Amino acid sequence: MRWITRVASISSLAVGAVNGLQVDFSNDDSIKQAASTVAYGLLKYYTGNNTGDTPGNLPDPYFWWEAGAMFGTMVDYWFYTGDESYIDVTTQAMIHQSGDDRNFMPRNQTKTLGNDDQGFWAMAAMSAAENNFPNPPPDQPQWLALVQAVFNDYVSRWDTETCNGGLRWQIFTFNNGFNYKNSISNGSFMNIAARLARYTGNQTYADWAEKVWDWMTEVQFIDDEFNIYDGAGVENECKTHSMAQWTYNAGIFLHGAAVMYNATGGNETWAQRTEGVMNRTIEIFFDAEGIPTEHPCEPFNQCNTDQLSFKGYLMRWMAASAQMAPFTFDTLMPLVRSSAAAAALQCSGSPPASQYRGDPGTACGFKWTEKANFDGLVGVGQQMSALSAIQYTLVKKAEVSKAPVTASTGGTSVGNVNAGAQTDALVTNFAPISMAERVAAGFATTAILFSVLGGSFFVMKE
Ligand SMILES: *[C@@H]1O[C@H](CO)[C@@H](O)[C@H](O)[C@H]1NC(C)=O
Ligand SMILES: *[C@@H]1O[C@H](CO)[C@@H](O)[C@H](O)[C@H]1NC(C)=O
Ligand SMILES: *[C@@H]1O[C@H](CO)[C@@H](O)[C@H](O)[C@H]1NC(C)=O
Ligand SMILES: *[C@@H]1O[C@H](CO)[C@@H](O)[C@H](O)[C@H]1NC(C)=O
Ligand SMILES: *[C@@H]1O[C@H](CO)[C@@H](O)[C@H](O)[C@H]1NC(C)=O
Ligand SMILES: *[C@@H]1O[C@H](CO)[C@@H](O)[C@H](O)[C@H]1NC(C)=O
Ligand SMILES: *[C@@H]1O[C@H](CO)[C@@H](O)[C@H](O)[C@H]1NC(C)=O
Repeated sequence: MRWITRVASISSLAVGAVNGLQVDFSNDDSIKQAASTVAYGLLKYYTGNNTGDTPGNLPDPYFWWEAGAMFGTMVDYWFYTGDESYIDVTTQAMIHQSGDDRNFMPRNQTKTLGNDDQGFWAMAAMSAAENNFPNPPPDQPQWLALVQAVFNDYVSRWDTETCNGGLRWQIFTFNNGFNYKNSISNGSFMNIAARLARYTGNQTYADWAEKVWDWMTEVQFIDDEFNIYDGAGVENECKTHSMAQWTYNAGIFLHGAAVMYNATGGNETWAQRTEGVMNRTIEIFFDAEGIPTEHPCEPFNQCNTDQLSFKGYLMRWMAASAQMAPFTFDTLMPLVRSSAAAAALQCSGSPPASQYRGDPGTACGFKWTEKANFDGLVGVGQQMSALSAIQYTLVKKAEVSKAPVTASTGGTSVGNVNAGAQTDALVTNFAPISMAERVAAGFATTAILFSVLGGSFFVMKE
């Protein structure tokens, strides 16, 4: 993910609103119908299955990781709605982007690849394993093995030279952000470690999930009140924090803790941690009507393309936590539903085809607190977030048949504990790019953003 702040020019996007989606949240068919409408609008942004395009990539300005997040959302969409329309396109994208080394590090992306970017694709594959999403043919990469490959990469990158541990943000030394350790990278690590522990029963994964959590609290990225901060530079031994609190950081650790609670058969320490993050998440992000706000940017119209998608992951991980730690269900799920109702009201836009190609009157805005007052801020992140809120209201209390499976409860994905190990060599042998290349890559990115989002204003921080 990038450090680019985008100030959207709202006036150029504001277009007439219709009535919003009509959803009866007491009726599953109505929820599925609404989800289908929003999903259709979302996938209309996707061009990777067009002839000559690359499967798995979204067009600019959407970065590679967000496509991974989108296909993770589509895996769950299939699971909860039963709509098979997007199975093929999702499978094709995930297999293609797993890359030559089958670990979600395709060479095309290495110039900007972060641990968190790789993590969003890995989490999509983990959802595929847990949901028994149709397995690829045996000669293709398998969901579980892909996640294990990324886990093994993370273990090899655990960096004890600074801050006594933690993952850096970027993988390669030549990228901006290499000297930053951030919560979402560690969150991705903890999230897949906890889920692999639950799925496989292998204690090594549980030990790593614990280790990441301990490190997060040691450096106070998670403080005693369960605030979760964005990260810190390594220069000062991770003592100078970026204090921003984002919904996705809260969500990813909430889910990680809930999965550990489940995997340990109800361990009290993990129950406390789950409840602590849950309490704080609600206090920080939700208003009295149960609608979340992305506080560091949303009130000021400063959210960048990445940040416009974060609330969707909060919805995903709240619903998943409600399943893993059933004692949280009655607290979390009413909030998912109130968020979904507000998000559905924002899905009322009819922007021109250059901005949205779904059905008229179904483009989703961003500020759910605005309810039926369509804010005109449409895009992949906003559409995906609304879809998430709506589809996860289908999660039912104690519905074991719709709970994520494990290897011993019907999971069919084939694993490989040694997957990805060969990429150590790849990483160390990868020659640092020259200064000229570095400038060229940075410049290209900036130029693309300017051309696509002409009229918007950017700040790029080192
Ligand atoms: C690509 O997938 C989308 C979503 O399923 C679909 O609407 C579109 O027709 C597909 N395009 C091609 C060329 O297959
Ligand atoms: C890498 O880029 C090339 C050229 O655009 C494309 O053909 C290939 O499919 C891409 N590979 C991946 C894994 O995206
Ligand atoms: C998270 O923190 C641990 C503890 O230091 C570190 O070893 C690991 O590399 C970090 N992981 C990520 C992905 O940032
Ligand atoms: C773990 O999750 C499953 C599926 O939701 C649930 O049936 C089970 O009760 C959970 N375990 C604990 C200890 O809460
Ligand atoms: C619960 O988990 C914590 C943290 O991993 C551990 O220290 C503790 O021993 C566990 N409790 C039980 C009863 O296993
Ligand atoms: C969470 O909030 C509930 C209700 O206010 C409270 O009873 C509980 O002690 C809190 N748990 C933690 C771990 O802070
Ligand atoms: C458990 O996972 C570790 C780490 O990948 C691996 O080395 C070990 O072989 C696994 N154990 C079993 C029994 O699969």
